Amino acid sequence: MGTRMMPVGAYDVEAVRRDFPILRQQVYGKPLAYLDNAATTQKPQGVIDAVSEYYARSNANIHRGVHFLSEQATAAYEAVRDKARAFVGAADRSEIIFLRGTTEAVNLVAQAYGRSNLGPGDEVLITTMEHHSNIVPWQILCEQTGAALRVAPINDDGEVILEEYERLLRERTRIVGITHISNSLGTINPVREMIAMARRHGATVLVDGAQATAHTRVDVGALDCDFYTVSGHKMLAPTGVGFLYGRRQILDAMPPYQGGGDMIASVSFEKTTYNRLPQKFEAGTPHIAGVLGLGAAIDYLQEVGLERVAAHEEDLLDYATQKIAAIPGVRLVGTAQRKAAIVGFTLEQVHPHDVGTILDREGVAVRAGHHCAQPVMERFGVAATVRASFALYNTREEVDALERAILKVREFFA
Ligand code: ALA
Repeated sequence: MGTRMMPVGAYDVEAVRRDFPILRQQVYGKPLAYLDNAATTQKPQGVIDAVSEYYARSNANIHRGVHFLSEQATAAYEAVRDKARAFVGAADRSEIIFLRGTTEAVNLVAQAYGRSNLGPGDEVLITTMEHHSNIVPWQILCEQTGAALRVAPINDDGEVILEEYERLLRERTRIVGITHISNSLGTINPVREMIAMARRHGATVLVDGAQATAHTRVDVGALDCDFYTVSGHKMLAPTGVGFLYGRRQILDAMPPYQGGGDMIASVSFEKTTYNRLPQKFEAGTPHIAGVLGLGAAIDYLQEVGLERVAAHEEDLLDYATQKIAAIPGVRLVGTAQRKAAIVGFTLEQVHPHDVGTILDREGVAVRAGHHCAQPVMERFGVAATVRASFALYNTREEVDALERAILKVREFFA
């Protein structure tokens, strides 16, 4: 594990940056300003070390072996479950299911919970600002069960219209799927209030936390949601790993999602019985190294302190919003009152892909496109946006680099 040098009390962004080896490089001869954190975050040395040390020293399959390495790997893997439980405030370690990330988590809930609980006439309620991974699994479920998908609208700032959301909560609303933080707009939803409303109508609630866990503290107990999804790679951990929090009674009552090794108690051709939680939902050999990396990422975020990260990112958001909004021809897409450090915009007369390409040559990495949220683009009448998204290691100087690069794009197309 890398050791961090941050003095207690102060937020020393340069010390944070030193923990991320990738940030030291230049691209096209320019210092890298990595502002594509909503797509994936960079990894601190501690995470990289956790993954490589597992392969170098303790690689073995888990829950299966009687030998030293297997026992060591099993203990390390299960220790991360305890960390993940504490990280999101779950009551019980068996409520943490390791899987690939939010996409797999939503699909798991849609299929394992949805297919056995929904039928014709039932409804699933989501919002306009959902990522495709919190839309398409519900559409598939609706096709399979005859349920209907309802969508709560958003206003011109990119906020859910709560009266409309509440109006759409009806007797037949069985599942509500809402994002905690929008990946395309940056909106922080009032999830606690939205969950309370949904529960008053007897709906089961899933919160997509993919964009939240690296930027704000999450407490599933206080939120009172039934499911919460986490993507490791968006919170400094490796790709291909994440977890689903699920309320224990609900997970217990659900049939398995996938069949295979480790999820069974006993198998015969006549009858198979399933393992207890959480193994019931972890069929096959998991991404062990990824889970260990996730554990190191949780340690890192805890050590830096999510409250301090949030304050740092809020400063970057204010600074970036002010700078970008002042550039002639810029239209901000996503101006909610409560926002995470994500700035989406278009530039008059220039396609977002061209903006992204020119920014790249200046060393500034952003995402340009529909951000896997095509209904959001449609809502704002654009095909795509440019999106700068910030993380704990970004600096005001990088915002300045972004501003200079956008001004260059304007000059180029003038
Ligand atoms: N969901 C990721 C993004 O917002 C890939 O870019």
